[in-house]
Amino acid sequence: MTAQEIIQQIEEAGREFARAIGDLRDEQAIREEKARVLGKKGSLAGAMKGLGALPAPDRPRVGEALNRVKGSIEAEVERRLGAIAEEALEVDLARRVDVTLPSRPRRRGHLHLLTQLLREIEEIFREIGFQVATGPQVETDFHNFEALNMPPDHPARDMQDTFFIEGGQGQLVLRTHTSPVQIRTMLAGPPPVRIIAPGVVYRRDDDPTHSPMFTQVECLCVDHGVSFADLKGTLLHFVHRFFGPDIGIRLRPSFFPFTEPSAEMDILCLFCKGRGCRICKSTGYLEVGGAGMVDPAVFAACGYDRYDVTGFAFGFGVERMGMLRHGVDDIKLWYEGDARWLEQF
Ligand code: PHE
Repeated sequence: MTAQEIIQQIEEAGREFARAIGDLRDEQAIREEKARVLGKKGSLAGAMKGLGALPAPDRPRVGEALNRVKGSIEAEVERRLGAIAEEALEVDLARRVDVTLPSRPRRRGHLHLLTQLLREIEEIFREIGFQVATGPQVETDFHNFEALNMPPDHPARDMQDTFFIEGGQGQLVLRTHTSPVQIRTMLAGPPPVRIIAPGVVYRRDDDPTHSPMFTQVECLCVDHGVSFADLKGTLLHFVHRFFGPDIGIRLRPSFFPFTEPSAEMDILCLFCKGRGCRICKSTGYLEVGGAGMVDPAVFAACGYDRYDVTGFAFGFGVERMGMLRHGVDDIKLWYEGDARWLEQF
């Protein structure tokens, strides 16, 4: 072949490519067309072979044609692929800035059920003249036991065998109930007293209905002529507000060293309304806390005149109240922070 013939062949390959590529818009197809011309077995490869056989003076012209056609094919491929990428980007961007898309809903938190219940309970008592009082969770033996008529060897301490803190002056305990706030309140000022004391307490208990740490609300009312009827009326008012007007209460004789007489307070079973079921073990009632008239020995320990004033006190577990009202069967759920549980309240 002469130089001229080879050059014609090269230029024909270039035109061939231009025809084939037409208006192809597919990346894969464009690359295939390029390979058909420029690839190892492509149409230009034959022209390259012919180049070697030409006399030296002819080679530059042919080489120049080869480079020109090759360069323009490569440039065209670049241009096409660039355009395709550009177009894809446009589509992408247009999609991303679609301001008409609804936004993702923001997940809003809310107060924990325990906090909600405490606020509700405080509100119920505030309405009838009670103030909110607090005390430390690490208590002295005096406030937690001794002043509540439980001297060191008293058997009632067994039930509240608890977590003691080493060191410090005197014996320190993680309080086993909120009753020490009764003592602190009475030591702090003269009667009359109307307080509720919400707070965390600690016991050596651990099962589905008992946690080593839980929340109680204590109530103390001291004044001239406070009677057992006032205790019952206050409890009934609270239970009606908290559980509903159809839930009655029952007071069962019991014993606490710091009240006399003492009672366990039960509410009508919320699940069977007294008919008897599995939850109330066929008794028709559910135990929710302890109550009684303040023992004169407690007044004496606090410097109150036991012949001048009388008072009532009661205490109940807040989680237990919530478990009964909302049908929660495991006390651990209150402290796990599992959103699936929390979201329900
Ligand atoms: N403090 C008692 C308890 O935790 C409950 C109680 C409080 C009983 C007040 C009587 C009066 O078991």
